[in-house]
Amino acid sequence: MITKPKGCHDIYGEEAKKWQYVNKLIDTLMEKYNYQYIRTPIFEATELFHRGVGESSDIVTKETYDFIDRGDRKMTLRPEGTAGVVRSYIENKMYGDPTQPIKLYYNGTMYRYERPQSGRDRELTQFGVEVLGSDDPLIDAEVISIPVNIYKMLGLKQIKVNINSLGDKASRKAYRDALVAYFKPHIHELCDDCKARLEKNPLRILDCKVDAENEIIKNAPTTIEYLNEESKARFEKVINYLGALGIEHEVNPKIVRGLDYYCHTVFEIEAKVEGFGSQNVLGGGGRYDGLTEELDGPSTPGMGFASGLGRLILALEKEEIKLPVQEDIDVFIMYVNEEEKLNAMYLAQELRMNGFVTETEYLGRGLKGQFKQADRLQSKYLLLLNSEDLKENIVTIKNNKTKEEEKIDLDYIIYYLDEHIEEEEHFHIGHEGEPLYEGEDEDEDD
Ligand code: HAM
Repeated sequence: MITKPKGCHDIYGEEAKKWQYVNKLIDTLMEKYNYQYIRTPIFEATELFHRGVGESSDIVTKETYDFIDRGDRKMTLRPEGTAGVVRSYIENKMYGDPTQPIKLYYNGTMYRYERPQSGRDRELTQFGVEVLGSDDPLIDAEVISIPVNIYKMLGLKQIKVNINSLGDKASRKAYRDALVAYFKPHIHELCDDCKARLEKNPLRILDCKVDAENEIIKNAPTTIEYLNEESKARFEKVINYLGALGIEHEVNPKIVRGLDYYCHTVFEIEAKVEGFGSQNVLGGGGRYDGLTEELDGPSTPGMGFASGLGRLILALEKEEIKLPVQEDIDVFIMYVNEEEKLNAMYLAQELRMNGFVTETEYLGRGLKGQFKQADRLQSKYLLLLNSEDLKENIVTIKNNKTKEEEKIDLDYIIYYLDEHIEEEEHFHIGHEGEPLYEGEDEDEDD
């Protein structure tokens, strides 16, 4: 038997319904935030990630899926979404669009050759946003608020936003020099990777997985101590704006992020769910003002985040949150002979086109078997076709719960079902039961 590759998943059945629910919620909310959907290729030129994600990041040095295509080009399966989106922004000259900033979102698979474990996969799905063309701290706060609001809407309660600032170029340089000076005398006590990182990118030492518990790393200088006045003032604004949006957060100087492109704001959101294990970071991101230039585009500020959908679904399961996914169907159409079957087919199409979840019989079961199948599928209504009734344009409709049945005119079915089946409301955008602003009564104008 051929099995799926390590670190990949088949998503089907009940789990697939959860994924679809979350995806729909994301699309709905992104529409309200007026972010435009963008789809970029799953593979790109290898060079994009070397320049975009960074030569010294773990992702590029150890985790990419690289291949040479049949035209001898070096290609890489995307390990993340930002580099591709920024490439697209530049290539498609989106900087020329007068409606700056450009607010984009994506939802797709990424590939990282990691050691698989629960919540850490080789094929992973990320939902993310990238905003290009504004350095207003309001964008930082808005971008952080999006995953938080999505997690809240899904019902997650135990989430924690950790935020930090790496500062502008000058602050980052001062910090880098301080780190090199601090680590140099201790470098022989750290792992080989860290030794290599000291000159290339000492920031990476701070999120080394091997030396994470080493006191030398724990006591290292923090970015905040090296922020210049401008960077400090900017960070304070982000913090204030988050407060204004009601997004709880904690300044955590340990957050430096594993990709090379960040400056100023960086953040990670953790699920503080018991039993979640070490892969509890649901999402993260930050500002990357120099990235467009790095990729040969015009200087453009950028800010974004990405959230792993697999980890999010896992967090929902750990918090025992039941999503209101539709488990039942609206109608099961029953028939016995060929003439009834033709009518059943036609009727099923009509009902589906009018928005009802409709099933019929595909295996030639007898009526008894069809009743059983309708029960298995939890059908709310049964439509029983029979040749005699069809001559009179009549059909029997049965409520599968109360078992009450009545004969109705075929032309009346859609009205009947419209009246009797409540449309399922999937998400509530807004604060349930609470007025949007304090002191304002939502019902006043009704
Ligand atoms: P990242 O922190 O590498 O950032 O990934 C973001 C999220 O993707 C993580 O917090 C996690 O939920 C999920 N994730 C990452 N790797 C795996 C994995 N192996 N298995 C399962 N889930 C995983 C980025 O990718 C940046 N592009 C985010 C960003 C966008 N920054 C600015 N704009």
